[in-house]
Amino acid sequence: MQVQIPEFVTLTGNQTSLTIALGRQAPQIIYWGQRLSSKTSESMLTKLRIRQEVPASPTREAKRSLTTTTGEGFSGSPGIKLSGNADEWAVVPKVTDVNQSTPHSLVISNIDETRNIEIKHNISIDPDSDVLSFSTSVINRGTDALNLEWCTAATLPIPAHISQILGFEGHWAGEFHEQHSEQFFGTYLRENRRGRTSHDCFPGLIMHAPSCDQQQGEAYGFHLGWSGNHRLLAEKMADGRAFVQLGELLLPGELTLSVGESYDSPKLYATYSTKGLSGVSRHFHRYVRSQIIKFDVKQKPRPVHYNTWEGIYFDHDVDTLKGLADRASELGVERFVLDDGWFIGRNDDTAGLGDWYVDESVYPDGLHPVVAHVNKLGMEFGLWVEPEMVNPDSNLFRAHPDWILSTKPNEDVGFRNQLVLDLTRSEVFDYLFERLDSLLTEYNIGYLKWDMNRDINQQGDQYGKPAIHRQTHAFYNLLAKLKDAHPNVEIESCSSGGARADYGVLQHTDRVWTSDSNDALERLKIQKGFSYFFPAELMGSHVGPRDCHITHRHLTMSMRASVALFGHMGMEMDLRELTDQEKVELKAMVNLYKKHRQLVHSGELYRLQLPDYANGFGIVAEDKTEALFSYSLIRGHTASLPDQMRFAGLDKETIYQMDIIWPIKSGDHWPKESIFSFKTNLPLLDGQHFTGEALMQLGKQLPRLAPNSSLLYYLHKVG
Ligand code: GLA
Repeated sequence: MQVQIPEFVTLTGNQTSLTIALGRQAPQIIYWGQRLSSKTSESMLTKLRIRQEVPASPTREAKRSLTTTTGEGFSGSPGIKLSGNADEWAVVPKVTDVNQSTPHSLVISNIDETRNIEIKHNISIDPDSDVLSFSTSVINRGTDALNLEWCTAATLPIPAHISQILGFEGHWAGEFHEQHSEQFFGTYLRENRRGRTSHDCFPGLIMHAPSCDQQQGEAYGFHLGWSGNHRLLAEKMADGRAFVQLGELLLPGELTLSVGESYDSPKLYATYSTKGLSGVSRHFHRYVRSQIIKFDVKQKPRPVHYNTWEGIYFDHDVDTLKGLADRASELGVERFVLDDGWFIGRNDDTAGLGDWYVDESVYPDGLHPVVAHVNKLGMEFGLWVEPEMVNPDSNLFRAHPDWILSTKPNEDVGFRNQLVLDLTRSEVFDYLFERLDSLLTEYNIGYLKWDMNRDINQQGDQYGKPAIHRQTHAFYNLLAKLKDAHPNVEIESCSSGGARADYGVLQHTDRVWTSDSNDALERLKIQKGFSYFFPAELMGSHVGPRDCHITHRHLTMSMRASVALFGHMGMEMDLRELTDQEKVELKAMVNLYKKHRQLVHSGELYRLQLPDYANGFGIVAEDKTEALFSYSLIRGHTASLPDQMRFAGLDKETIYQMDIIWPIKSGDHWPKESIFSFKTNLPLLDGQHFTGEALMQLGKQLPRLAPNSSLLYYLHKVG
């Protein structure tokens, strides 16, 4: 008996509808956009989509189905590429079953009965955030093995007026840069073969209408939750139809499906907003907060960090560390993180990775004295590790030179003196678990900074097969096993800064080290890019040294601290070098962070539309009773005063008190050496009351600021 298949299925969020046509065809999204009322029927949508005749074209249009197929005659990029002994490459699965277990999730099963290949689409919507998630599975139901080359998590159609592409690219110490382009006939394609999420090719994309800005207009956001190789494309076909595909990039021979075996694509997260680019971000943040993040910021506010890296690098010494801990605690630090340099032979970056034993020549009593000292000061202790790596100069490598990924006999390209362990070998996995588990058992460690400091250039396993698919899953499994054994330990995902930031790794981790650049000016761009997909509580942001170690730019404490406030704040410098004035300012910012972190870590982000000499945004409480706004002047402007700053996201009728909370005042006034180049009239506004509509529709005049300085405003409802 044939199962009854509905003609259509619709998923509805608070603001979005997604309608898929089924029948016994390949499933196809026929509508995705602003929520439709019940008056609109699916048959209306179908009629409006009737294709008009085109000369010299196919008489029947091959669809932009969830998995587009060459076998069906689709001439755009296929959603699946596979081959077998016969004509499996021409697979055309048709819907055989639809299982809608809740109103918000469904599984669509499809089979190509001739070729015995099954495809399953898992689709769900989180109604509250309007974020959809898609993944696709391929199951080999035949009698011979299949080689899988590509399987997109979904093919998502893009309306013709959504012609602008916002991509994210970058480099070490300069991640998440926005890259704008216009869609064209052909394919916008980004492929990442670095074996990690990468600095240069973030697996995310926003497509929007030309008139869309930060505050208003239509935009679609896409992100692949995967920490290995990936591929994303936005394509416009010659007939004007456009679509987006994101999925895992598989190397030749990487994935063979034996009889009965299946492949599950990583998840693609997608959302639609009419509230501009900030609207897309607010959807993603809401989703991540309710569906991905495991910690509870209310129960345990994100602690202020001190990280030793830019303070002492590899120069470890127990007394120095205790002294740093004393200073950190005086400044209000709540978690002390011991970075690279604590394990055997690790005096610089040429040796030691793999030997996860405390170096007794530096720490004769193990880490106990340092951990005890840190704990006695009331701080949590955190530790840096880089488990997936090995230095050739290490006991581990000398004992097991074959435990690495390679393409032997090809020469390794060389990367920070280290090689990558093959986590798909059970002995490697077990060794790493044993080492980490025993460190976490022996010491009172609340936090691991888990690093990964090289690309995986040579991606072959011991049998010579490409291994990143399995390596990435093994990495996730190792994290999951450790979390199971030590549920209270938080883990940070670091990869030479921000090269492993994605919703895949965040299923197992609690923070991202956004970038190795602590230069506050660079950070404004980096943190803005990061904020498209991730909320502030996941974003590691530290106050760095006065002269940035990477760019050598000199920035005031006032500027550095104000930029660090808007993430998961910390500090990373040699605390012995702070001047008295810097200590006062840093401590004041730590106090501000503690006062406002609930708001920063639960509020909604509104980026301001400002000229490019400035950067501004606000975080507004969900109930709109309070908000924090930041305005930074990046460089000089042509007019003698900067343009008006118009606030956003407030309640129009609410009366807010405006407190200008940064830079710090001495008494009622800002000191001379503060950030104002000239006399300022700001005191006339400080503490005054305004309606939300006046703040948003008129905005405020800004004083002439010294370039590279920030003003912070705290708005709170009066009465
Ligand atoms: C990477 C990290 C840094 C630091 C060093 C240590 O570069 O991003 O924060 O931990 O490794 O080697």
